[in-house]
Amino acid sequence: MPTTAPASTPLAKRLRPNYLRVRLGAHGSEICRLHNTLEGLLAIQETRFLYHLAKDAKTVVEIGSFRGKSCVLMLEGAKAHGNTDVRITCIDPHEPTHFGAFKDEDHDAFENTVRAHGFSDRVDHKRMYSHDAVGEWHGSPIDVLWVDGDHSYEGAKADFVDWASFVSPGGVIAAHDTYRERFPGVLEAWNETIGADDSFGETQRCRTIAWAIRTSNGGVTSS
Ligand SMILES: C[S@@+](CC[C@H](N)C(=O)[O-])C[C@H]1O[C@@H](n2cnc3c(N)ncnc32)[C@H](O)[C@@H]1O
Repeated sequence: MPTTAPASTPLAKRLRPNYLRVRLGAHGSEICRLHNTLEGLLAIQETRFLYHLAKDAKTVVEIGSFRGKSCVLMLEGAKAHGNTDVRITCIDPHEPTHFGAFKDEDHDAFENTVRAHGFSDRVDHKRMYSHDAVGEWHGSPIDVLWVDGDHSYEGAKADFVDWASFVSPGGVIAAHDTYRERFPGVLEAWNETIGADDSFGETQRCRTIAWAIRTSNGGVTSS
C-alpha cells in the first residue's frame, strides 16, 4: 500500500497523513492505520480517544458494537499500553432497530474483526439489548463504560440510568454522538443524567464524545 499520495494530489492533502500522525501523538501511526482499516463511523480524534481509553481498565462494557471498531480500538490500545488484564463485554442485538437497519451480517463482521485481531478470548459478546443485558450484569464495578447503542432520547437515557451506577470510582463513562445537530436526544439524555450527577466530574468532550470520570464518592465499590 503506498504511504505517500501521488504528486498530482494537492499539497495540503499530501501532507495530511504525516500531519495527522504527528498531531495524534504517541502511537499516531498505529491509530491512523486502525482508523483506516476498521469499519465504523468515528472521527480520527475519537479513534485516538478510544485507543487510549482502556489503557488501565480491567472491566469494560460497550453498548453498541456494530462491526467491532470501537471494541478493537480499546483492546489494541490496552495491549499497546501493556494492559493484559482487560476484558470487554460487548452488548449489541445485531438486528434492525428503530435507530437503524442493523443486521445479521454486522454480527458476523463483529466476530471476524475481533478474531482477526486475536481478541476472541478478551471479548464476551452479549447479543441482546442493553436494557435486557443489565438484568444479567453480575454487578462488578465497571472501569470503562462506552455507550454507543440506541441514539434516541429514551434509549440513551435508559442506558445512562441503567448502567452508570456500575461505573467504579475513578472509572469513566463515555458516550458517542452527544451533539445537538444530529442526535439532540443523546445530548439531552446525557445532560439530564451524567451531566447532572454530582458523583461524576465535569463533562469533558472529544469531538462528539462526552465523557466524565466518576469521583470517589459515588458508584459501585468492590466488596
Ligand atoms: C453506531 S453503531 C455502534 C458503532 C460502534 N460503537 C463502533 O464504533 O464501531 C450502533 C449499534 O448499536 C446497536 N444498538 C442499538 N440499540 C441498542 C441497544 N438498545 N442495546 C445495544 N445495542 C444497541 C446497533 O445494533 C448498532 O450496531
